[in-house]
Amino acid sequence: MKKLLLFLACLPLGAFADDLRPLRDAPPAFQAECGSCHIAFPPQLLAADDWRQVMRTLDKHYGDNAGLDEKTRQALEDFLVRHAGKAAKVGASLTNMGTAPRLTQTAWFQRKHREVSSADWRHAKVKTPANCAACHTKAAEGSYREREIVMPDGRRWED
Ligand code: HEC
Ligand code: HEC
Repeated sequence: MKKLLLFLACLPLGAFADDLRPLRDAPPAFQAECGSCHIAFPPQLLAADDWRQVMRTLDKHYGDNAGLDEKTRQALEDFLVRHAGKAAKVGASLTNMGTAPRLTQTAWFQRKHREVSSADWRHAKVKTPANCAACHTKAAEGSYREREIVMPDGRRWED
């Protein structure tokens, strides 16, 4: 009985919500290479085919060059695809036409953010929806709880 209680006490709150914390099997290059210009986006937020396309076009990466040696590129693609979101859940990226897909353009992302106003998106501190940390103060740790959200004008989301 004691053991069971201990087990229950250790379950994180919201264990059944989206868990976007850093994954244990991430190759070291994931944080080093994919977390240097923006946060290392959680692999769960894009479908497998979309990740493959992102990783096929790293030399033309949203206007930047994020090219890698083939061994590292392949290891990162394998990791991303292994943890990719189910297309049925995240939805395929809606901008997947010739350009690299965006997780900020999936049905999932749009649904989660439908209450965010266009003024907030356009705020100078945000610049792009991909700038998760502009509002999610613990995005780099993979934590997106509502009580941690501080909007770019300084107001707390929950108040
Ligand atoms: C040299 C800088 C740089 C590196 C390195 C880099 N990125 Fe990016 N990435 C960018 C820029 C710039 C954008 C576009 C941001 C914007 O305008 O919204 C972007 C956007 C993205 C997006 C789309 C975000 C959205 O809007 O939904 C994904 C996905 C992405 N990067 C994944 C990766 C992965 C995976 C890696 C590692 C293999 C990586 N990036 C490495 C610069 C970089
Ligand atoms: C302009 C501010 C802003 C930016 C930028 C932003 N978000 Fe959000 N996000 C919010 C707000 C506000 C909510 C809560 C919406 C609500 O309560 O309905 C939210 C909700 C979420 C949730 C759901 C949290 C929950 O408890 O259900 C996740 C996950 C999330 N965002 C991930 C991201 C990721 C990943 C990025 C970057 C790719 C991002 N967000 C960029 C403001 C932002």
